[in-house]
Amino acid sequence: MKCAVLGITGSIAAYKACDIISALKKANIDVRVILTDAGAKFITPLALESIAHTPVVTDMFSRERPWEVEHIALAKRADVFLVAPASANFLGKAACGIADDMLTTTILATKAPVLVAPAMNTNMYLHPQVQANIQALKARGYRMIEPANGMLACGDVGIGRLAEVDCIVEAALQALQIKQDLVGKRILVSAGPTQERIDPVRYITNRSSGKMGYALAEAAMERGAAVTLVSGPTNLQTPAGVTRIDVQSSEDMYNELTARFADCDAVLMAAAPADFTPESVATQKIKKDGESLSLLLKPTKDILASLGKLKKQQRLLGFAAETQSLEENAQIKLKKKNLDMIAANDVTAEGVGFNVETNAVTVYKADGSKEQSGLMTKRALADWLLDRLFSGV
Ligand code: PMT
Repeated sequence: MKCAVLGITGSIAAYKACDIISALKKANIDVRVILTDAGAKFITPLALESIAHTPVVTDMFSRERPWEVEHIALAKRADVFLVAPASANFLGKAACGIADDMLTTTILATKAPVLVAPAMNTNMYLHPQVQANIQALKARGYRMIEPANGMLACGDVGIGRLAEVDCIVEAALQALQIKQDLVGKRILVSAGPTQERIDPVRYITNRSSGKMGYALAEAAMERGAAVTLVSGPTNLQTPAGVTRIDVQSSEDMYNELTARFADCDAVLMAAAPADFTPESVATQKIKKDGESLSLLLKPTKDILASLGKLKKQQRLLGFAAETQSLEENAQIKLKKKNLDMIAANDVTAEGVGFNVETNAVTVYKADGSKEQSGLMTKRALADWLLDRLFSGV
């Protein structure tokens, strides 16, 4: 999960920090808040903590967590450092490298991109010293999110109002390189194995951990999609903002996916549903009597092939878990299931496929093109796949 450190300084616009935190949290970003003493005159740590769900840092010398040098820990943790609202006092101190509180100290220690959203009275904002400070910070690589024109809290009309929350959040997402290209899309993701019951205490399953599907769900959600994750049994945590539906068998997965298919824009089928299930489920535990046991298995429904037949506007991404003839088998599945794209993973290769953090695939598209991803984390691969599935859409 990416992390934004948000510095809040003394300005009446400090209350808008609640909306900024809320929007960043919705984009699945871990938000850490540093509140200056002047900021705390306008908004309470309790209000901010209630939204951020993490402790708000105010005191440079707090001994609550003595084992970590907190300003360094926060500076390192930040993927983006945002100061909103930024007061004239903050701009002056930051421009001169003064480090006399938690915010100005932490900002000196960070290597993350720094975004600053000033908010103050027009005359203060236009004062040559404040403008010189802004130029000095810009020259240092800080990005200014320019204030807006309008009625100010003091009654004056002019430039100095904190930029709109949407602009601030968009700038932060851009700095985090989180695209918002899937806003408005409804995406169904399947993940994990299924369990096919033999009797009340036994089942057949496979080695899928769900990691690939959960990574896809998280990536799609962060890029703005409304994501429903249909998951077989896993030990994974549901990514924040994703709706999860738990299923056990391949039949359950079929039912949940087909019921939601008409209303979705894409299905990302990373699950490994069983291809076979016992012909009948014993009502009592099967006793061992020293003899071998034969299980009669029947084929399950091919979920993707069924969705492929129903397909209208939806885009379908399938996976092919192969141990041999990768390209040939993937191409057959691409056509037979009427997919837009299939990601074939050679599950015999090191660091690829079941229950590992990384994966490598070759994608084959319905237009005949083919591309290799190389080995990367499943989370990075998820974005790589979404880029290709939705390119040109
Ligand atoms: O879960 P992880 O541990 O992270 O591992 C990831 C993975 C290896 C499970 C994943 O990358 C993957 O390859 N998933 C597909 C596994 C699979 O069932 O492959 P398949 O080649 O048997 O099936 C082809 C496609 O048809 C798949 O998209 C599969 O979801 C789908 N299918 C399979 C069986 C079935 N009854 N209905 C289906 O829709």
